[in-house]
Amino acid sequence: MFLKCRKVVWALLIGTVSAGTVTYSIPASVPTSATPLDVAPVGISFEFFTFPSYFLNVSATNQCLKNFETLTGVWPPIRIGGTTQDRATYDPSTSAYVVYSVAAPTDAPASLTFGQSFMSLASTYAGNVVLGLNRAHDNISNTIAAAKVATAKMSNLRAIELGNEPEYYLTDDQPIATESGTWTPAIDAASQDNWDILVGSALSKTNIIQAGNSNSAPPTWGAAELIATENDTVQSYVYDYAHHNYPGGTISSLMSHSDISSNLAIFNDDIAAAATTGKDYVLGETNSVSGGGASTVSPLFGAALWTLDYSVLASSLGIKRTYFHHGTIGACYYCFWGRYDMGAPYYGAYVATAFMAGAAAVVELDDGSTDYAAYVVFDGAGSPLRVLLVNSDYYSSGTRGSETFVLGGLGGAASVKSKRLTAASANSRVDQGGNPTFGGQTFANETCVIGGTETFESTAVSGGTGSFVVGASEALLVYLQ
Ligand SMILES: *[C@@H]1O[C@H](CO)[C@@H](O)[C@H](O)[C@H]1NC(C)=O
Ligand SMILES: *[C@@H]1O[C@H](CO)[C@@H](O)[C@H](O)[C@H]1NC(C)=O
Ligand SMILES: *[C@@H]1O[C@H](CO)[C@@H](O)[C@H](O)[C@H]1NC(C)=O
Ligand SMILES: *[C@@H]1O[C@H](CO)[C@@H](O)[C@H](O)[C@H]1NC(C)=O
Repeated sequence: MFLKCRKVVWALLIGTVSAGTVTYSIPASVPTSATPLDVAPVGISFEFFTFPSYFLNVSATNQCLKNFETLTGVWPPIRIGGTTQDRATYDPSTSAYVVYSVAAPTDAPASLTFGQSFMSLASTYAGNVVLGLNRAHDNISNTIAAAKVATAKMSNLRAIELGNEPEYYLTDDQPIATESGTWTPAIDAASQDNWDILVGSALSKTNIIQAGNSNSAPPTWGAAELIATENDTVQSYVYDYAHHNYPGGTISSLMSHSDISSNLAIFNDDIAAAATTGKDYVLGETNSVSGGGASTVSPLFGAALWTLDYSVLASSLGIKRTYFHHGTIGACYYCFWGRYDMGAPYYGAYVATAFMAGAAAVVELDDGSTDYAAYVVFDGAGSPLRVLLVNSDYYSSGTRGSETFVLGGLGGAASVKSKRLTAASANSRVDQGGNPTFGGQTFANETCVIGGTETFESTAVSGGTGSFVVGASEALLVYLQ
């Protein structure tokens, strides 16, 4: 409550002052506080039943993923899973990828089967795959049968999940919870531990399970609570720990850097708990608003700025990878792309990937208390590589405010170049003609091919200092090398 009041006052202050200034110094070499980066921190999650259609029947999918590979040299990690992984039964006799029936094409199936070809298709992806399998039906032999096909066919298999968002098993009438009539974090943890050992030993594979996978906020459900129940045998089968997150809210609260900071701070204890095990911590499924998104929030350019700032802040906090969820095709406001149009959030994920590409470590320069974010990434030799500046003031119409970022420590060059991520307003939607641009470029609908002329801005540097003006609801990627 107190925080909220203070935020309103702050918003009023910046509303009347058109341009403020923040000052940061870029460290000359990577500080010890810097967080090591994954080679591909921004990933994509595909809802289990839709995965074959995304890959076979949505023409943008391959190119949208390839655009990230062009930046980093590595295809982005994907995760296949979600609510429908716990409605799915493996059927070794079907030649189909998935079999289900729905009343309307925009419905998710209440039950489905999948065949070996599902795993064959996943094996063709050139990046790493996390595959979500069923625990809710409490049929471990069926899950082990599917897991064996996955490990046999998929040389790109990173990990297997055993169940999705188990806190909802009782309300979802899932057998594993209804059989006993009670389902608590402790009961779920014991179940996960047991399954980790049984599935891992059936596969003769350690470091194979992506554990956790809850959506409800920690500490009730989360890595610290789960890890406290695990002995060394259980832990040997765990590859990493995952949590889900859908912050929701309005477009202005979603994109606000200080709100993103408070939202991600709830994972600090779980990140620390995972670190004590030597395993990674990831956001295994996330996006702006749960249930496919909200029309007034998820497809807007402000959600692209959220995607950008959230991905980079997550990485700065030690969240190794962030998988943005893609649900039912044709009923998905937060999707980065669809069968027809691009989604604005893709631009945020693209810029986050461009910022972190090839970098070894990241540091957040600001303290997360304002709308103005500043990050720096360092190369493998420890030299500053790029700076990302985000002005998350919500802009809709009228005079567009701006923030000036004064950066010191820029070295001896006379100028530095940058690319701007912008759109007409935070409310811009691609399907309404409000195409964002990054360095003047856009992504084509249906194909995801980048178009337009790449345009760099140049900022004068004097005595190692330069001033960068970033409009309300804009971001700037500054290239130091
Ligand atoms: C591909 O998409 C079209 C258009 O929605 C649909 O009619 C068709 O059934 C889909 N095919 C597959 C294999 O998903
Ligand atoms: C569990 O899975 C096995 C192997 O796939 C199958 O034979 C069996 O019928 C399933 N049991 C139930 C209760 O569905
Ligand atoms: C580890 O925990 C599991 C249950 O989670 C138990 O079955 C197993 O016996 C334990 N192993 C050791 C060595 O204590
Ligand atoms: C994508 O399609 C929408 C119409 O659905 C259009 O307004 C927009 O300009 C198109 N974007 C590009 C980059 O062509």
